[in-house]
Amino acid sequence: MSIKENLERIQSEALAQIGASEHVESLNDVRVSFLGKKGALTAVLKGMKDVAPEDRPKVGQMVNDARAAIEKAMEEKRQAFLSALKAEKIKNETIDVTLPAKKPAQGHRHPNTIALEEVERIFIGMGYEVVEGPEVEYDLYNFEKLNIPEGHPAKDEQDTFYINKNIVLRTQTSSVQARIMEKGELPIRIISPGRVFRSDEVDATHSPSFHQIEGLLIDKNITFADLKGTLAEFAKQLFGEETKVKFRPHHFPFTEPSAEMDVSCFKCGGKGCRFCKGSGWIEILGCGMVHPHVLEMCGIDPEVYNGFAFGVGLERIALLKYEIDDMRLLYENDIRFLKQF
Ligand code: DAH
Repeated sequence: MSIKENLERIQSEALAQIGASEHVESLNDVRVSFLGKKGALTAVLKGMKDVAPEDRPKVGQMVNDARAAIEKAMEEKRQAFLSALKAEKIKNETIDVTLPAKKPAQGHRHPNTIALEEVERIFIGMGYEVVEGPEVEYDLYNFEKLNIPEGHPAKDEQDTFYINKNIVLRTQTSSVQARIMEKGELPIRIISPGRVFRSDEVDATHSPSFHQIEGLLIDKNITFADLKGTLAEFAKQLFGEETKVKFRPHHFPFTEPSAEMDVSCFKCGGKGCRFCKGSGWIEILGCGMVHPHVLEMCGIDPEVYNGFAFGVGLERIALLKYEIDDMRLLYENDIRFLKQF
């Protein structure tokens, strides 16, 4: 085979391999095997010593031409690879601005919190301050100073979790009453929301842990009319302007007289429906005039000061307002349920 034929063969083989390469790396293999130190073209150059001196320039020229042809093909192929790569990258990074945006998942308030904020808003509007007391409480504040001494039957009704003989998980936010009165800063106008505990079995209306909002007002010349006016206004703001209230005599150890307040059913307007179990009324809270003995035990002179108190269940309000028929739903944290509020 002549040198010319050999070069043509080398060149066409190189071009074929370049044409067949599937990625940039294989181009490098082609470069090594044809143009590298031990490559086919280099071998031809090494054979120059056997070529007649007068033919050497011609052969040299042919080798250079072959090398140039191979390098050109290689460069073209490399560019083709690069632009294909770039096109692919652009395609992957393209953002379709017409696609609907992803909504960031955002949490929201629990129905209990919504109800509490509503109650707070109403009382703050009437000049009340929101204060909090401890959940782990002395028997003294939870029972004793509220006129519930050792052996009182009310203590059994509100059976709770004892830390020791003197410390309990509070059964009622009424415990905050004595703590505030003891401070002796008069007059008092507070509400106190918070968690309370009782050793109750879980069912649709009971839970060993739930929430109450206590209210307390102490000033001079306070009458039952003030209590009624305040709570009637509260009921109207909470359940609607049409809401009527009704007070039924009741007994609480720390108030005298005591009452339970019902509101006219906001579903049927008082005619009687499934919601109010046909009675037209819904029981909503306990209240009364603060017992003189309670005032005394807290260092307040009942001859000068008096007042009223009330206690309302937060879950009860949330269940009523949002027409939830099982209290357990409030605590199961089922996102499908909670999303609705
Ligand atoms: N603490 C009472 C309870 O848990 C509710 C209550 C009734 C609070 C009458 C009061 C009140 O302040 O005056 O059943």
